[in-house]
Amino acid sequence: MLLNPLNRRHRLRYDVPVMPGAFPLVGHLPAIVCDLPRLLRRAERTLGSHFWLDFGRAGHLMTCLDPDVIALLRHKHVSSALIEEIAPEILGGTLVTLNGSAHRQARDGIKAAFLPRGLTEAGIGELFEPVIQARVQAWRDRGEVTILPETGDLMLKLTFSLMGIPAQDLPEWHRKYRQLLQLIVAPPVDLPGTPLRRGRAARDWIDAQSRQFIRDARAHAARTGLINDMVSAFDRSDDALSDDVLVANIRLLLLAGHETTASTMAWMVIELARQPELWDALVEEAQRVGAVPTRHADLAQFPVAEALFRETLRMHPASSLIPRRTTQELQLGQRRIPAGTSLCIPLLHFSTSALLHEAPDQFRLARWLQRTGPIGPVDMLQFGSGPHVCIGYHLVWLELVQFSIALALTMHKAGVRPRLLSDAEKGRRYYPTAQPSMKIRIGFS
Ligand code: HEM
Repeated sequence: MLLNPLNRRHRLRYDVPVMPGAFPLVGHLPAIVCDLPRLLRRAERTLGSHFWLDFGRAGHLMTCLDPDVIALLRHKHVSSALIEEIAPEILGGTLVTLNGSAHRQARDGIKAAFLPRGLTEAGIGELFEPVIQARVQAWRDRGEVTILPETGDLMLKLTFSLMGIPAQDLPEWHRKYRQLLQLIVAPPVDLPGTPLRRGRAARDWIDAQSRQFIRDARAHAARTGLINDMVSAFDRSDDALSDDVLVANIRLLLLAGHETTASTMAWMVIELARQPELWDALVEEAQRVGAVPTRHADLAQFPVAEALFRETLRMHPASSLIPRRTTQELQLGQRRIPAGTSLCIPLLHFSTSALLHEAPDQFRLARWLQRTGPIGPVDMLQFGSGPHVCIGYHLVWLELVQFSIALALTMHKAGVRPRLLSDAEKGRRYYPTAQPSMKIRIGFS
């Protein structure tokens, strides 16, 4: 009998090779965090387009580099419940982990507030503009910044203002949010002072505050604002949804919108600093319009800023992979995938795949500026696809265009431009969200 050459060299599960090199307990996580693209390239070269990666506590995930797998994000027998197993303390009960009608009901109660009309009616662009302006002016005054901590801090301010948190409460929210994040990596030791105990206390504090917001929103129904809009949409909905769903999803909004957008914003500045012609094109556009947009209707005036937002995300997708699980046996190309299989859908790989993009490794605004068709699912794959596609897409688009135009106007007026002062490729992280190094410095001179 002829043996498949892979069989002799590699362990197989369901006929799919297991990537070697996993460590006890943490599996391939160190390689996934530090250099996911390299790991995927090596696996593709040695094992082909389907292989198992070991995600430590989350177990083995079958990773597929064939674009066919993208369709599984819309498949009715594919569930996102695996995300709850990966991060139960922090994401349990939130939209990303729900499926089918429970997901639809919860999402329907929230989504309107995040569509262009909802954002415009809530005055989100007007709310964000002065916060962004103040931050880029401060960068100008300082002349040099460490970019990721700065965009992280700015994004927290924007997210908190979106939720209507009063300015005097921001430091406490900041502290609690940082403690909440410890739940993602906390070892399972529940003793006083441990990250798990502190993280849970912070989560309970944030949830209690959210319940108060919900009560306030009901008491002052005439007020506008995102939480008010979410509460009234929830209360109008025909399905009886408990406030617990609303509370969990307010927590999700904090988490989902923060690091992803902060990372994209930081990459935007890095690309503008290392590509002078990009900066010149952006400044020209900002000068021509002369003001920071505040509404979605204004965004059509900023094609260069929009292309910059899309190309930055394509080259540096903030969500590098999506975990899923099959609930029934299904077919993927020539393969049979058994029910209960954990899957890893590597958005990062598809974002720069030659099968989906021309000259995928080149940063080209022209691919967006010269396109004639509408934006399709592949063009916004960095936001996922199917029922769980990112609810914050329109919000991110608005805030990143606002940010880039405010940056261009402020720096140009002062006669300076961004300059990269560190190696942008060193110290990158790819999981749980992908981000540049915390240490990259940008000068404005
Ligand atoms: C550049 C920034 C962002 C990126 C790249 C991004 C990416 C994603 C991706 C890939 C998903 C799909 C997850 C899955 O299918 O399992 C998702 C879902 C989600 N995102 Fe975002 N996101 C960003 C910003 C935001 C913002 C600003 C918000 C809101 C404030 C937000 C809220 C959500 C929510 C609530 C979901 C879950 C939707 C559902 O399960 O129905 N995201 N995001």
